[in-house]
Amino acid sequence: MEDIIKILGFAGSLRKESYNRSALRAAVKLVPPGAQLDTFELDKIPAYNGDHERELPEAVQAFKAAIRAADAILIVTPEYNASVPGVLKNAMDWASRPYGDNAWDGKTVGVMGASPGMLGTARAQYHLRQTFVFLNMFPLNRPEVMIARADDKFDSEGNLRDQLTTAKIRELLDSLIEWTRALQARKPALAQR
Ligand code: FNR
Repeated sequence: MEDIIKILGFAGSLRKESYNRSALRAAVKLVPPGAQLDTFELDKIPAYNGDHERELPEAVQAFKAAIRAADAILIVTPEYNASVPGVLKNAMDWASRPYGDNAWDGKTVGVMGASPGMLGTARAQYHLRQTFVFLNMFPLNRPEVMIARADDKFDSEGNLRDQLTTAKIRELLDSLIEWTRALQARKPALAQR
């Protein structure tokens, strides 16, 4: 039997009724057999301060440990001003530090995002993908899951009520697992350091 693929998922919003945190919860319910999706909340991660790199804040240490324990990453991003929210970028930055101890190195990553707007976080997702290059992450190209008009797709309790979006998230998870297994089989060339 194949090993379980461990996915770490987090959303770049702290909002209680966040569409993106709701989308992540929907993903947790859709994980297929052969994988597990654990989630991490970013609310305890402080604003980045280079003075604290030598002894990382506890929440950052926990975040880095969770990333390292995972085979794959799932990022659910809101879009702020056509880009990645500071909360998410800040967490990404912390986990890449100190220099030479980048927890993202070699991880496969899937992306999705939800917005009440028409573009469903497309611009934020493309900015986020740019950072993956420098962090040496291996993004899944397809499917792109851009949940537009999120206010129509989730009910007042944050449950996903849209069949097409549900199918897309399922497809994203299946593809991320397949992508991760494919890259793992190519070790040591793409070995995580
Ligand atoms: C937004 N929002 C937004 N939406 C979008 O589709 N494109 C954008 O560029 C922006 N810009 C933006 C800037 C700032 C500062 C805020 C606070 C909001 C709206 C955003 O998509 C909406 O607030 C979502 O509900 C945020 O995601 P969560 O918190 O629901 O997960």
